[in-house]
Amino acid sequence: MPSGAGPRLFFAVWPPPESARALAEWALEAKRACGGRATAAENIHLTLAFLGEADPARAIAAAQRVRAHRFDLPMEEAQFWRHNRIVWVGPRELPRALAQLADALHQELFKEQFKLETRPFAAHITLLRKATDPEGLPPLTAPAWPVDEFLLVSSALSDAGSRYTVEKRFALS
Ligand code: 2AM
Repeated sequence: MPSGAGPRLFFAVWPPPESARALAEWALEAKRACGGRATAAENIHLTLAFLGEADPARAIAAAQRVRAHRFDLPMEEAQFWRHNRIVWVGPRELPRALAQLADALHQELFKEQFKLETRPFAAHITLLRKATDPEGLPPLTAPAWPVDEFLLVSSALSDAGSRYTVEKRFALS
């Protein structure tokens, strides 16, 4: 069983630095409307699969078998979720290539005995945590987000929030 042993791991895609900066600026603007804690530019990402404490070797073995294509991730929508008080941005509809990547990864992780969430994959990029319900959010600037790789990342909690370390990169074709 891979769970319960090792660092806290997740698979994600990361935006180009200039797009991360644009999203971080938008987050600060949104914060004026609803407070909360903004995600630092270098931490902005879209999670594909959250593993929790797990064995990196099994995660890497699964990811190396994934065959998926590059795509552009559109930033079309900004929303507040009341159940966990986050403000997030993301595509209006799940892009086919992103669904294929997430599905392929989940299938390979399943073969490696990972127990993942059974809820359907919801593509979201968290930009504010502990926010209050805003009356409205600022218009979303839509920076380009070409996805040509996905990453295995470990997460450590510190007083300053989460600190992420890239463990391994996996290229898309
Ligand atoms: P979130 O942004 O919606 O909180 C690292 O923690 C990443 O894994 C975050 O993007 C987080 O999503 C995601 N994640 C998914 N399930 C999680 C869980 N059960 N605990 C912590 N993070 C989780």
